[in-house]
Amino acid sequence: MFWRLVFVLLILTVDHGNSTLMPKIGTEPSVGSGQLQNSFLPGLDNLTTTAKEGEVVEVENVMMTGVLHPSHYPARRAATVVQHYLNTRYGSPYRWVFLSTVHKGSAEDVTDIGRKYHLELTVQDTISNVSGRCSAELVFPEGAEQGAPQVNASCDELLQSNTTAQEEVFYQQHIASNNPVSGDNIPDSHGHMEPTMKPFWHLGGVASSFIMLRESNESTMYNMAQVANFTQLETENNQLRFQYHVLLHEMVSQEIIHWKLLVTWSPAEGVKVLQTELQPKCHCEVPPNTTK
Ligand SMILES: *[C@@H]1O[C@H](CO)[C@@H](O)[C@H](O)[C@H]1NC(C)=O
Ligand SMILES: *[C@@H]1O[C@H](CO)[C@@H](O)[C@H](O)[C@H]1NC(C)=O
Ligand SMILES: *[C@@H]1O[C@H](CO)[C@@H](O)[C@H](O)[C@H]1NC(C)=O
Ligand SMILES: *[C@@H]1O[C@H](CO)[C@@H](O)[C@H](O)[C@H]1NC(C)=O
Ligand SMILES: *[C@@H]1O[C@H](CO)[C@@H](O)[C@H](O)[C@H]1NC(C)=O
Ligand SMILES: *[C@@H]1O[C@H](CO)[C@@H](O)[C@H](O)[C@H]1NC(C)=O
Repeated sequence: MFWRLVFVLLILTVDHGNSTLMPKIGTEPSVGSGQLQNSFLPGLDNLTTTAKEGEVVEVENVMMTGVLHPSHYPARRAATVVQHYLNTRYGSPYRWVFLSTVHKGSAEDVTDIGRKYHLELTVQDTISNVSGRCSAELVFPEGAEQGAPQVNASCDELLQSNTTAQEEVFYQQHIASNNPVSGDNIPDSHGHMEPTMKPFWHLGGVASSFIMLRESNESTMYNMAQVANFTQLETENNQLRFQYHVLLHEMVSQEIIHWKLLVTWSPAEGVKVLQTELQPKCHCEVPPNTTK
């Protein structure tokens, strides 16, 4: 069966090395609908495209059922959703995984359920560089109440990086919160961040995965672009609490999407996202009829 869709091949300046795990943001993401160029796009590091920057390629009637090419968009998009799922399950300020390679993928239509993907992939942890191979099943539900994708995944080795000691130190350092921490533009427009900000960048990325998992469908591909800012709130019930403002990059529409998140974390309870609030697309006044 052919799945009719229009997908946009993305127009990227992509670092083809798999080892590049830190973002490189070449241009300051503008508030609202700006395009983020030269950004780090983990999901698309092996997408073969000959499109030039600014060019949009539309492909119709792409076959998306049966065996999928592991380096092409349908398989990588689904595998990126698995990446988000793993971060929601296992993420912490010291554990944040990215999709590195898709080995195998297939998709089928399941009546009344939706489209089901079977994937074999390797993910890598940003901090320890430990990678692990995972098998995953993923369903994009069909019908009116589409809802979030459903994912099952099991991974070897992934959790062997023991972050207990680092997490405990970080937790103890911030639990008292008589000196609440905050930060902005992580990373900055040159891709830099202070070493002390890294755990907050990771935590912002993991928290963003909760949104990206929930919002993903068969025609999206999300990536966390930047923590615009975060502020530590008062600790409650032994959970560190933070307000985050994150910028997500939706690579198909090339939109930068702003979300405000209330995030909690402790070594015992893990990362939780208690509130999410989509921010207006543009905070600026766009004068009418000024499209060039
Ligand atoms: C890209 O995909 C091809 C085919 O799946 C694979 O042989 C190659 O090693 C991949 N390259 C990278 C950089 O992952
Ligand atoms: C992970 O890999 C990066 C780049 O290769 C390197 O700079 C970093 O030191 C490595 N981290 C660990 C914990 O090995
Ligand atoms: C995940 O596993 C559960 C229990 O085995 C099963 O009921 C469910 O259908 C699976 N979901 C997916 C998306 O494969
Ligand atoms: C992780 O390291 C801590 C000490 O740093 C140790 O107590 C704990 O047993 C280790 N956990 C695992 C799963 O290896
Ligand atoms: C996928 O999500 C995007 C962004 O929220 C939305 O515009 C689009 O309609 C959705 N597509 C499908 C097929 O649900
Ligand atoms: C966080 O960044 C957003 C987007 O740039 C901005 O609108 C908001 O006012 C900032 N919040 C704080 C507390 O600085």
